[in-house]
Amino acid sequence: MKSLQELHEKNHPLCTCALKETATQPVFGAGNENANIVFIGEAPGEKEDISGKPFCGKSGTILNDALEKVKLSRDTVYITNTVKYRPPANRDPKPEEKESCLEWLFDELFFIKPTYIVTLGKHALTTFIQTKGLLLEDIAGKPRTIKLTHPKSKKNLSATLIPTFHPAATIYNKRYREIFYTTIQNIQND
Ligand code: URA
Repeated sequence: MKSLQELHEKNHPLCTCALKETATQPVFGAGNENANIVFIGEAPGEKEDISGKPFCGKSGTILNDALEKVKLSRDTVYITNTVKYRPPANRDPKPEEKESCLEWLFDELFFIKPTYIVTLGKHALTTFIQTKGLLLEDIAGKPRTIKLTHPKSKKNLSATLIPTFHPAATIYNKRYREIFYTTIQNIQND
């Protein structure tokens, strides 16, 4: 694969996600293909479904604000989602919808090979670690080394996983907001 655009254009027709039937279009990840940091959200919302761009609505404004505070521009990082199609009425993505978008997400990660993978919310996090019995509040902002195995090629990749809250969860919860901002502030120091 020569570019991320090519990677997305290959994956979209092959992806078997049932959400394709109701979504307006796929929302491809966006940003720098040499990024050191990849942010992974849950799934596109209404604005993203209309524009085809990740994190361009209210959650995107919060993420942009946190990035600006640490002088990180969206052009230097890469931002994508666990699920590439909008779930109807913004419901949670189902396990089978996440599963059907997994190879696409791993293709992105194995193409970019980031140092840091920052998961925004529990849906992105459960892609990488078992979360049963874990509270996001306890593990948010705490880096850990993970080994990823690509579901198809079986190749391995190491990265530093940094879990944090989804920007939407920070709107009404001050504590989550503080953790979210601190996580982003500390990324490059980890
Ligand atoms: N929430 C997400 O998880 N992803 C988006 O792209 C927008 C909102």
